[in-house]
Amino acid sequence: MIILAASTQRTTGLVIAVVVAAGFAIYVLFNLKQGRKEIGAEIELAPNRKPYYDDETLETKRLDMALAGGVAMLIIVALSLPLYWLGEPGRQKGFDEFTETVFASRGGEAYEELCAQCHGAGGVGGQAAYTVLDDQGRYIESVNWTAPALNNILYRFSINEVTHILNYGRPQSPMPAWGAPGGGPLTSQQLETIVEYLIVIQLTPEQMEEEVQAGLRESVLTEVRDQNPEVSDRELQDAYNLLFSGLGDALTEQTTIQQDAEAEVEDIEEAKTKVMDLLDDYLIELAAMNAQKYGEYLFNNPAGAGSYACARCHTAGSSWNANEILESSPSLEGLIDPEIPGSGGFGPSLIGVESQFTSAFSQSQFISVGCEANLQYGMNGVCEPSGQMPGFGHNATDLEGSMLSPEQIDAIVEYERALR
Ligand code: HEC
Ligand code: HEC
Repeated sequence: MIILAASTQRTTGLVIAVVVAAGFAIYVLFNLKQGRKEIGAEIELAPNRKPYYDDETLETKRLDMALAGGVAMLIIVALSLPLYWLGEPGRQKGFDEFTETVFASRGGEAYEELCAQCHGAGGVGGQAAYTVLDDQGRYIESVNWTAPALNNILYRFSINEVTHILNYGRPQSPMPAWGAPGGGPLTSQQLETIVEYLIVIQLTPEQMEEEVQAGLRESVLTEVRDQNPEVSDRELQDAYNLLFSGLGDALTEQTTIQQDAEAEVEDIEEAKTKVMDLLDDYLIELAAMNAQKYGEYLFNNPAGAGSYACARCHTAGSSWNANEILESSPSLEGLIDPEIPGSGGFGPSLIGVESQFTSAFSQSQFISVGCEANLQYGMNGVCEPSGQMPGFGHNATDLEGSMLSPEQIDAIVEYERALR
């Protein structure tokens, strides 16, 4: 629209310019031609010697014409000024959008250079190398700390909150401070361009819903596999069957088809879809029959590099798989604390959190909206000035849509209130 409007204006301007230029050229041509002609004695033919209109004509017809001409010019000026201003908001908006695009593309370059190595290209999430030290600052272990996806960040944090995180980083994590207030290298305008870029890459609510669901499917499958690490295929299938009737067969079928070198692509896809459908059915059933378990999956959801989950802030060690490391290097026992679900990390411990809220409903509301600076919540909760508990529900930020549905938040609350 704006580009179109701008180009119509430009065309009009061009036409006027061409007409004026052509008129001027003709005027000059005529003048030259007249200048060359020598028609008679200057004493008779000089323009100032020509007898002019008499007073009669001058004061009636000529004067009226001149006055009418003046009025006409005035009308044109009076009309064209407001007309020009009518277009001004459009021009202003076009300029704003232009600056935003320039900002976003500059921010995109800065992002790729400074952030992508940890948060993934395009903000899909990734990993950061981190060294776990003991209280005295001695080396314990090198780990990979999950860096959450940022292509959904503006659904859980406001622009102010994101700017705060960028300024100060996340203490006790690989996320460094970037802004001058936290001692970082970037100016506030550079941070602004990065935020502008983050705005551009946000997913749609539908895409987020699909990511959350994919993470839940993965969790269910991982849990089934973890629970049966050493069983044969036959036993595994029995376990699947026990857990979710039908899923085991579908999974075996998928594996068999995938291993068949001559299998048709279509068959493989069909087998995969079947597994997915069964997982989705199971999750619907789980949400209805065992919201607490459903809430546990959501609390730990690996989707979007943990960005939809709670564990990364409320279960210390979960961002770098402390339990897995302990399992593979038992010598670290006593040096590394095992993950205790909900026992607190960057965010406070949630064990016994039900005493903080008058009801499950008010707890859901808090999780839906999240913190903002000094917000009071629950019985006696007050958010830190940095307001870093994200909002996971509708209206948590200016964006339409949310990271989690009200039912999902209620399920998480049910899980949290059972944490011991
Ligand atoms: C060295 C790796 C690394 C780099 C580089 C890095 N980050 Fe991070 N960032 C992290 C990690 C890890 C976390 C999660 C910390 C935690 O678990 O609390 C994080 C957290 C964040 C968060 C908070 C997300 C949330 O939902 O809690 C934002 C926003 C963020 N980073 C933005 C950026 C931007 C923008 C850049 C580039 C200017 C950047 N980060 C560069 C590792 C990094
Ligand atoms: C980016 C880190 C982060 C994530 C992710 C996060 N929280 Fe929090 N949460 C916090 C912080 C920080 C606080 C403390 C609030 C404050 O004082 O500012 C908090 C506070 C809370 C509280 C109040 C605890 C109390 O005792 O006052 C609850 C309940 C809670 N979070 C639940 C959740 C749930 C449920 C999720 C996942 C859907 C979640 N949080 C995800 C950082 C996080």
